[in-house]
Amino acid sequence: MSVSTTGTEPGLSEAQFSRVREWVYRRTGIQFADNKRYFVDKRVQACVREHGGGFDAWFAGLRLGANAALAQELINELTVNETYFLREDHQFDALVKSVLPRVAAERRATGSTDPIRILSLPCSTGEEPYSIGLRLLEDWGDIEDFDVEIVAGDIDTRVLQFAQRGEYGPRSMQRVPLAVRTRWFDRVKADTHRVKPDLRDAIDFRIVNVCDTESMRAYRDFDVVFCRNLLIYFDEISSRRAAENLFGALRPGGHLFLGHSESMSRISPIFTPVRLPEGIVYQRPPIGAAP
Ligand SMILES: C[S@@+](CC[C@H](N)C(=O)[O-])C[C@H]1O[C@@H](n2cnc3c(N)ncnc32)[C@H](O)[C@@H]1O
Repeated sequence: MSVSTTGTEPGLSEAQFSRVREWVYRRTGIQFADNKRYFVDKRVQACVREHGGGFDAWFAGLRLGANAALAQELINELTVNETYFLREDHQFDALVKSVLPRVAAERRATGSTDPIRILSLPCSTGEEPYSIGLRLLEDWGDIEDFDVEIVAGDIDTRVLQFAQRGEYGPRSMQRVPLAVRTRWFDRVKADTHRVKPDLRDAIDFRIVNVCDTESMRAYRDFDVVFCRNLLIYFDEISSRRAAENLFGALRPGGHLFLGHSESMSRISPIFTPVRLPEGIVYQRPPIGAAP
């Protein structure tokens, strides 16, 4: 295939595809296999067209970091943001029935008044952190006794804007029971619901790159981290880096939730798998735990 430098011809050349793939991998940890070429191709073409100067000029701007918006736009185009409310609900059961009672018991035993801190990373369009908030409000009996902080992050700025707005259609909402919908959402159109302000304001949304060790140092002392359906997009090296950064984000004894097709055992031995009645979670060993 010929090299398109105008941006108007369809199809990236092999070399262009490789350069973009390498750039995305280094910046985000996301690894695109050869069979994702069509997906990448279409989105890169859209970015090049938007920029207007052809592939080479666009890629030079991207690489030199001269225009941060170009990089963010490409990242936003290439992320896969599939999510919905109460996805893999047994994990929220594990949170309210097994993990938070442990955290609460430990806080009471030590007399600590520290807030309970939960990180949802990646949060995509927000359904996951709002689901955490909903399940705590609906089903965790100790909610009145503790301050809870929920921080939610994603590398994609477009989904973060969507999440902050908190408006969802039927596809996102289909697993939300009617009574919960009535209590925590306002109906804004026939098929669109918006999270009520009290819950919306309780989530602190931020741009976060889980593979960026330097910036991840700002995330510390979480009792719980949800990192679901992200590691599937990473190769071994990125997964290990992400695992180490998530380990650093947890307090000793803190718990990590992964997606149903993800397993820490294949990535790194630094976490201890914990089998709860509702499923498996991974724990950062408490201080003094036997190695
Ligand atoms: C499939 S969604 C998962 C959302 C939610 N956790 C769930 O399970 O429903 C994957 C998200 O990962 C985000 N993402 C990809 N690479 C990332 C990175 N390096 N750091 C943070 N977020 C990333 C994407 O923007 C996307 O929104």
